[in-house]
Amino acid sequence: MTKTEALIQQLQLEAHVEGGFFRRTYESGERPLLDTAYGPRLRLTSILYLLTRTAPIGRWHLNRSDILHFYHLGEPIRYYLIDDCGQLSTHTLGPDPSQGHQLQLVVPGGVWKASHLPHGDYGLISEAVCPGFEFDDMSLGARAQLLHRFPQHAALIEQFTP
Ligand code: GUN
Repeated sequence: MTKTEALIQQLQLEAHVEGGFFRRTYESGERPLLDTAYGPRLRLTSILYLLTRTAPIGRWHLNRSDILHFYHLGEPIRYYLIDDCGQLSTHTLGPDPSQGHQLQLVVPGGVWKASHLPHGDYGLISEAVCPGFEFDDMSLGARAQLLHRFPQHAALIEQFTP
Protein backbone atom coordinates (compact mmCIF):
# COMPACT_ATOMS: atom_id res chain seq x y z
CA MET A 1 0.00 0.00 0.00
CA THR A 2 1.33 3.45 -0.86
CA LYS A 3 1.55 6.23 1.72
CA THR A 4 -1.31 8.00 -0.07
CA GLU A 5 -3.51 4.89 0.01
CA ALA A 6 -2.70 4.51 3.72
CA LEU A 7 -3.63 8.15 4.37
CA ILE A 8 -7.00 7.70 2.62
CA GLN A 9 -7.64 4.68 4.83
CA GLN A 10 -6.39 6.27 8.05
CA LEU A 11 -8.46 9.42 7.51
CA GLN A 12 -11.45 7.40 6.20
CA LEU A 13 -11.81 9.48 3.07
CA GLU A 14 -14.21 8.78 0.20
CA ALA A 15 -14.23 9.91 -3.42
CA HIS A 16 -15.73 13.38 -3.89
CA VAL A 17 -17.97 14.18 -6.88
CA GLU A 18 -15.72 17.16 -7.76
CA GLY A 19 -12.59 14.93 -7.73
CA GLY A 20 -10.22 14.01 -4.90
CA PHE A 21 -11.27 12.52 -1.56
CA PHE A 22 -13.06 13.87 1.49
CA ARG A 23 -14.73 13.20 4.81
CA ARG A 24 -17.08 15.48 6.66
CA THR A 25 -15.56 16.15 10.07
CA TYR A 26 -17.94 18.69 11.60
CA GLU A 27 -21.52 19.86 11.49
CA SER A 28 -22.70 22.64 13.77
CA GLY A 29 -25.19 21.31 16.33
CA GLU A 30 -26.74 24.74 16.90
CA ARG A 31 -30.51 24.85 16.42
CA PRO A 32 -32.60 26.33 14.95
CA LEU A 33 -30.95 26.04 11.56
CA LEU A 34 -30.04 29.25 9.78
CA ASP A 35 -32.87 30.65 7.71
CA THR A 36 -31.23 31.52 4.36
CA ALA A 37 -32.65 32.70 1.05
CA TYR A 38 -32.26 29.11 -0.21
CA GLY A 39 -33.75 27.37 2.81
CA PRO A 40 -32.59 26.20 6.26
CA ARG A 41 -28.86 25.53 6.58
CA LEU A 42 -26.43 24.34 9.27
CA ARG A 43 -24.34 27.19 10.61
CA LEU A 44 -21.04 25.62 9.62
CA THR A 45 -19.71 22.35 8.20
CA SER A 46 -16.17 21.17 7.67
CA ILE A 47 -14.40 18.51 5.64
CA LEU A 48 -10.95 17.10 5.14
CA TYR A 49 -10.08 17.21 1.43
CA LEU A 50 -7.26 15.39 -0.35
CA LEU A 51 -5.89 15.60 -3.89
CA THR A 52 -3.50 12.85 -5.01
CA ARG A 53 -1.17 12.03 -7.89
CA THR A 54 -3.89 9.81 -9.42
CA ALA A 55 -6.78 12.18 -8.52
CA PRO A 56 -5.03 15.56 -8.85
CA ILE A 57 -7.99 17.74 -9.90
CA GLY A 58 -10.91 19.36 -8.13
CA ARG A 59 -13.09 20.21 -11.14
CA TRP A 60 -14.74 23.60 -11.70
CA HIS A 61 -17.63 24.15 -9.33
CA LEU A 62 -19.35 26.94 -7.50
CA ASN A 63 -20.85 27.11 -4.05
CA ARG A 64 -23.37 29.61 -2.68
CA SER A 65 -21.65 29.73 0.73
CA ASP A 66 -18.22 31.12 1.55
CA ILE A 67 -15.54 28.42 1.88
CA LEU A 68 -12.41 28.71 4.02
CA HIS A 69 -9.51 26.44 3.02
CA PHE A 70 -6.70 25.49 5.44
CA TYR A 71 -3.46 23.80 4.40
CA HIS A 72 -2.41 20.71 6.38
CA LEU A 73 0.07 18.33 4.74
CA GLY A 74 1.87 17.34 1.58
CA GLU A 75 2.51 19.28 -1.61
CA PRO A 76 1.03 22.69 -2.45
CA ILE A 77 -2.39 22.84 -4.13
CA ARG A 78 -3.05 25.43 -6.81
CA TYR A 79 -6.44 27.20 -6.91
CA TYR A 80 -8.05 28.93 -9.88
CA LEU A 81 -10.97 31.24 -9.13
CA ILE A 82 -13.26 33.06 -11.56
CA ASP A 83 -15.61 35.65 -10.11
CA ASP A 84 -18.96 36.78 -11.47
CA CYS A 85 -17.26 39.45 -13.63
CA GLY A 86 -14.97 36.86 -15.23
CA GLN A 87 -11.91 37.98 -13.26
CA LEU A 88 -9.42 35.11 -12.79
CA SER A 89 -7.21 34.82 -9.72
CA THR A 90 -4.73 32.09 -8.81
CA HIS A 91 -3.55 31.06 -5.36
CA THR A 92 -1.32 28.37 -3.92
CA LEU A 93 -2.23 26.72 -0.64
CA GLY A 94 0.96 25.32 0.85
CA PRO A 95 3.42 25.21 3.73
CA ASP A 96 5.91 27.92 2.76
CA PRO A 97 4.91 31.60 2.88
CA SER A 98 8.40 32.51 1.57
CA GLN A 99 7.38 30.77 -1.69
CA GLY A 100 4.16 32.77 -1.89
CA HIS A 101 2.07 29.95 -0.42
CA GLN A 102 -1.05 30.78 1.53
CA LEU A 103 -1.87 28.80 4.67
CA GLN A 104 -5.49 29.85 4.39
CA LEU A 105 -7.64 30.75 1.39
CA VAL A 106 -11.10 32.32 1.42
CA VAL A 107 -13.33 31.62 -1.58
CA PRO A 108 -16.46 33.75 -1.39
CA GLY A 109 -19.83 32.26 -2.27
CA GLY A 110 -20.67 32.58 -5.98
CA VAL A 111 -17.05 32.30 -7.18
CA TRP A 112 -16.10 29.45 -9.54
CA LYS A 113 -13.22 27.32 -8.22
CA ALA A 114 -10.95 24.60 -9.58
CA SER A 115 -8.02 23.04 -7.73
CA HIS A 116 -4.96 21.15 -8.90
CA LEU A 117 -2.10 19.19 -7.34
CA PRO A 118 0.58 19.97 -9.96
CA HIS A 119 3.23 17.63 -8.53
CA GLY A 120 3.87 15.23 -5.68
CA ASP A 121 1.95 12.38 -4.11
CA TYR A 122 -0.76 14.28 -2.25
CA GLY A 123 -1.94 17.56 -0.75
CA LEU A 124 -4.26 17.59 2.26
CA ILE A 125 -6.40 20.54 3.36
CA SER A 126 -9.55 21.29 5.36
CA GLU A 127 -12.53 23.28 4.19
CA ALA A 128 -15.04 25.07 6.42
CA VAL A 129 -18.30 26.10 4.75
CA CYS A 130 -20.47 28.86 6.25
CA PRO A 131 -23.49 28.61 6.12
CA GLY A 132 -23.04 24.84 6.04
CA PHE A 133 -22.58 22.84 2.86
CA GLU A 134 -25.59 21.44 0.98
CA PHE A 135 -25.40 19.75 -2.41
CA ASP A 136 -28.25 22.06 -3.51
CA ASP A 137 -25.85 24.99 -3.09
CA MET A 138 -23.15 23.48 -5.31
CA SER A 139 -23.06 23.66 -9.12
CA LEU A 140 -20.60 21.52 -11.03
CA GLY A 141 -19.41 23.47 -14.08
CA ALA A 142 -20.38 22.04 -17.46
CA ARG A 143 -17.61 22.70 -19.98
CA ALA A 144 -19.88 24.24 -22.68
CA GLN A 145 -21.64 26.50 -20.19
CA LEU A 146 -18.36 27.79 -18.71
CA LEU A 147 -16.74 28.28 -22.12
CA HIS A 148 -19.74 30.30 -23.24
CA ARG A 149 -19.64 32.48 -20.15
CA PHE A 150 -15.85 32.88 -19.81
CA PRO A 151 -14.30 32.32 -23.28
CA GLN A 152 -11.17 34.19 -22.19
CA HIS A 153 -10.37 31.33 -19.78
CA ALA A 154 -10.89 28.49 -22.27
CA ALA A 155 -7.62 26.67 -21.53
CA LEU A 156 -8.23 26.49 -17.75
CA ILE A 157 -11.87 25.57 -18.25
CA GLU A 158 -10.88 22.70 -20.56
CA GLN A 159 -8.13 21.58 -18.20
CA PHE A 160 -10.49 21.24 -15.22
CA THR A 161 -13.76 19.99 -16.69
CA PRO A 162 -14.30 16.32 -17.58
N1 GUN B 1 -17.35 20.55 -0.05
C1 GUN B 1 -17.17 21.43 0.94
N2 GUN B 1 -17.83 21.04 2.04
C2 GUN B 1 -18.43 19.88 1.76
C3 GUN B 1 -19.24 19.00 2.51
O1 GUN B 1 -19.54 19.19 3.67
N3 GUN B 1 -19.67 17.91 1.86
C4 GUN B 1 -19.34 17.68 0.58
N4 GUN B 1 -19.81 16.58 0.01
N5 GUN B 1 -18.59 18.47 -0.15
C5 GUN B 1 -18.13 19.57 0.44
